[in-house]
This record gives sequence, C-alpha cells and structure tokens, in this order.
Amino acid sequence: MSVRRRHLLAGGALAGAGAAAGALAFRGDEPAALAAVDTGTAIVPFHGVRQAGVATDPPAHASFVAFTLPAGTDRRQLGRLMRLLSDDAARLTQGAPALGDTDAALALLPARLTITFGFGPGLYEAAGVPSPVKALPSFAIDRLEARWSGGDLLIQICADDALTVAHAQRMLVKDARPFGAVRWVQTGFRRSPGVQPTGFTQRNVLGQLDGTANPTGDALDAAVWAPDGSTTLVVRRIRAEIEKWDLLSVADKENAVGRRMDTGAPFSGAKEHDEPDFAALDANGLPVMPDYAHVTRAHVTDPALKILRRPYNYDGAPNAVGHPDSGLVFASYQRSIERQYVPIQQRLAERDLLNEWITPIGSAVFAVPPGCAPDGWIGAEVLG
Ligand code: HEM
Repeated sequence: MSVRRRHLLAGGALAGAGAAAGALAFRGDEPAALAAVDTGTAIVPFHGVRQAGVATDPPAHASFVAFTLPAGTDRRQLGRLMRLLSDDAARLTQGAPALGDTDAALALLPARLTITFGFGPGLYEAAGVPSPVKALPSFAIDRLEARWSGGDLLIQICADDALTVAHAQRMLVKDARPFGAVRWVQTGFRRSPGVQPTGFTQRNVLGQLDGTANPTGDALDAAVWAPDGSTTLVVRRIRAEIEKWDLLSVADKENAVGRRMDTGAPFSGAKEHDEPDFAALDANGLPVMPDYAHVTRAHVTDPALKILRRPYNYDGAPNAVGHPDSGLVFASYQRSIERQYVPIQQRLAERDLLNEWITPIGSAVFAVPPGCAPDGWIGAEVLG
C-alpha cells in the first residue's frame, strides 16, 4: 500500500532523487553494463504539453489497465490519486524506481517506457465535471463482454520490454488500488525492436501489414491533438476468427482489405504507400478497390477526420480443441470520438467484408488529458 511505501521512504530505505543511484549500488558493475544496452536504456520524456504514449512510435509491449472507482469517490481523492500516479510515472519512465519501489532494480531499464493516463466518463461524473467522452453507440457487429469493457480510469503502459511493463504495472496498481478496483487488464505485443528495420510497417496476427495509412507529422497533429494537448482514446478488443481466416486463399484475404498481403500495396497501386485510387475501374467497369473492402470503408479524405491507430496483438491460450484466442487490442487516438471514430466504425459495421473474420468483444472510451510540467501532475486541469 502506498502509505507504507512512503514510510519506507521516510525511513531512509531509498532517498528521493537519489533513489536511482542508491538502487544501482547493490550491483557495482550494473550501471556501466546497462549503459551499453541501447534498447534497455532508451528513454521517452514524460513531461510536456502532451502525454507520451500517443504519438510515440509504439513499443513492443503494452498493458492497458482499467479501473473502476467505488461509489462516493470525490474530486479530492481523485486529485490525490493522480498526483501519486503522475509521480510514479515521472520516475519509472525515466529509469528511476517509484517511491518506495520494492524491486528498484527492475526500474533501471525503461526501454522506452511510456505511461499514459485516460479518464472514462465515470471519473468525470465522480469529479462533478461534464465528461468530454461518452460510451460508443452499439454496433450490429458488437458481441461485447463486460470483462473487457468500460472503465473509469485507464493506465496505458508501453515499453520495448515485457518485464519493464510488468514492473511499472505492479507499482502503479499498488498505488491505485486503495482508490479503485482493477476492472480489466489487456496486454498486447508488436514486433520487437531490432527484428525489422525501423520505419517498416509491422504485420498483425492475421499476417497483414497494419498501420500503412496512419497519419504522420502535421496530419497526425491535426487528427489527434486538441490545442490544450488533450486527445481521446478508444480501446476495442477485437477477436480474430483465425480458424475461418486460415481457410481463405491469399486472394480472398486481400479482397477483404483491398490491399496485397505481401507488399501491402492497394489494388489500385504497386507499392505499399501508393495512395489508393477509389475511382479507378477495371476492364469490366468495376471499382478496382472493392466497395466492401476494409480500406474502402474506413478511408477518410479530410486529414482532420482521420484517426491514429495504435493496435497491439493479443494471443491467449488456445481453447480445448486447439483454436487460437487471438486478435487485436485495437487502440485509436483522435481529437473527437464522435466526429472521427464513430463515423468510420459505423461504415465498417454496416458493410466491411473483414467483419466475417473479426468480432469486437470489448469496448471502452477515455479522454486523455494534457501532459504536465515537472512541478505538475496529470489531470490537474480537471481535478486540481
Ligand atoms: C481486428 C481488427 C482490424 C484489423 C485486422 C484491421 C486491419 C487493417 C488493415 C490491414 C488495414 C490496411 C493497412 C493500413 O493502412 O493499416 C487497415 C486500414 C485501416 N483501418 Fe483497420 N483493421 C481492424 C479494425 C479497424 C477498426 C475497428 C477501425 C476503426 C473503427 C479501423 C480503421 C482503419 C482505417 C481508418 C484504416 C486506413 C484506411 C485508409 O485510409 O487507407 N480498422 N486496417
């Protein structure tokens, strides 16, 4: 419990800013050895106008941890919680142990650790403030399960190392649990650093190149960030019906999306990053990009209405007959869920061939408040 951890600190077990150095002392040779490992020691700044973990190039591992606040939670308690969690995040992301960290050595390799906070509608209600986000409307394709849905507070923890994520999660949950109960945890993974050259699009568990058309640079800024540095997050757990997918030919798989499986090129182009031409017709006068294909249905021309997809794969234990439990923890960031995410999801729900092989089983929405300065904390605008 956090109070006890702070007593530890007061008792001199670890000493504030010197904690990192103190923790290193138990293995004399460790600091020099660690400094040589680029992936392990890489740091993403925590402080800033915008929270890290959104526009940050997605690290290999993620854990999304959602909490439920008990009835009667008030704004003052939420302020205490967010001060505490912001302090933990500020330290852990920079490779320093959390206050009273009970396994400080595990904090020393941040591996691009980012810790990003999201506030669900229930948190705003508890704080007595109007919520900038509301639950998605239900879609015909949804088969939502309560165990993967909703949440008042979200902590998104990402790093290039699974042990770093586990340690950060342990510290953050320890500090959060006096204030709320863990509602669900969804872990996911992407390609590991060093496995393929940087800048290459990764493949998802369905074997598709996933992320090609994501906005970058100014287009990303326009789609994702409000002027105050806030954004919103949609988390959808989408099961892949892998057994059925495996029955398809490559051509069938390509038809579902409108892109080639090998190169990721749109049917209307030759290379992955060729802009799809939705007006192009084939010799029979039919659209080259099928109108039921995922890309055709999802495409948006106005840069301000695009979304930033940041999906992670999941892969649980196969069931009793050996069928995989696989899919995407699909996370998307956008300024406005109503104006950007919902219309795309609506078009996909109406007619997207890919729906034959994917099923949404979880859904949650969060406002992502602005980042903070070193003397501030996440959520101060709402809870301060
Ligand atoms: C398991 C679920 C899903 C899978 C496997 C999947 C797969 C893909 C693939 C392979 C592409 C083409 C390459 C790329 O640009 O990344 C794509 C594009 C896209 N997807 Fe999905 N997707 C899924 C769910 C969703 C959802 C839930 C949404 C939003 C509601 C979405 C929105 C988009 C958008 C906006 C594009 C880019 C379209 C364009 O402008 O070219 N996808 N997806």
